[in-house]
Amino acid sequence: MKAPRYKWQPTTAEIAAAAGMAPEEVERFDHNTSATPTPWAVEKAALSLSGLNEYPAANYRTLRDAASMVSGLDPEQIVPGAGADELILLCGRAFLDRGDTALATTPTYPLYEIATLQAGAVLQPVPASPPDFEFPVDDVVRAARDADLVWLCAPSNPIGNAVSDDAVDAVIAATDGLVVIDAAYAEFSGTDWSVRVARHHNVIVLRTLSKAYGIAGARVGYAMAHPDLIAAIDGIRPPGSISSVSVELGIAALENPQSMRATVATVQELREELTLSLASLGLRALPSQTNFVLCEVGARAASIAEQLMDEGLVVRKFPSDGPLANYLRFTVRTASAHTRLISALERYLP
Ligand SMILES: Cc1ncc(COP(=O)(O)O)c(C=O)c1O
Repeated sequence: MKAPRYKWQPTTAEIAAAAGMAPEEVERFDHNTSATPTPWAVEKAALSLSGLNEYPAANYRTLRDAASMVSGLDPEQIVPGAGADELILLCGRAFLDRGDTALATTPTYPLYEIATLQAGAVLQPVPASPPDFEFPVDDVVRAARDADLVWLCAPSNPIGNAVSDDAVDAVIAATDGLVVIDAAYAEFSGTDWSVRVARHHNVIVLRTLSKAYGIAGARVGYAMAHPDLIAAIDGIRPPGSISSVSVELGIAALENPQSMRATVATVQELREELTLSLASLGLRALPSQTNFVLCEVGARAASIAEQLMDEGLVVRKFPSDGPLANYLRFTVRTASAHTRLISALERYLP
């Protein structure tokens, strides 16, 4: 089977043009990025511009050192990438062969399937069941016994729920294959999977600076694993995919944990307010350990998403033939953005 092609999402400029508004009026509830500005980033980016005539340091040592300080692991147990996305694709290329089996719970982050199919491997879905879509630990453990790689999204996107330590440990114990824990939202759940890296040779943990650290546009993430696995990723990563400007921004973000913690606290507060506002409209939002909420909207979910888009409110909808057809996912943004969203939903709900 051929690997699927990406379907690029409409840009803010395109959405603004279609809605007849300025791009600043468009509110992206679909990207799970941070609405908190990073004023320190402007100065950092400016400082790094003087070296732009040269390539970034090939081994990204300074960025590895900064991630090592945060994780407590050795720099040899860390490799950076242009976002967790690049590292997901690299894991597929480095560790999956044609005909191998990778498994992932569904619904989940779509890039795992793409990374699996690009490697010529087969994705075995393990469904999580409505209405709560809890992590189906027994089914995953059973399927993991024969899998070459397990994609674990913890906390989960798009559900937003955490995966317990016990569940993760049960999966690791069940398989001789690799377990890739995508911890893109780890800061919001407070779960630090790096301890698992120190204990197990078959665990890779992915982190990103796009969410709680607030620099999605810089494209910086890192993988943590046993040095042998790190060397395998390092040996096939594209040269220089993280620009020298992004390296400086990444280091500054990692060295500034209080800014990240403030963002997490703000998001947690606004997330609870958003959940209550949705409840006041009669809508159920699933409990979330992330910077978004998944909300059951009903059979008109997709058309409501279109109506919201027409007013510059971009939300995440899901395939009409899948388990989330009646759901929309909203990123936690600002209080004023939430007011706009809730009043629009009030108008569009049946
Ligand atoms: C589960 C998950 N993994 C990875 C990513 C991509 O992260 P990055 O911006 O670091 O590529 C996202 C972004 O939404 C995500 O939700």
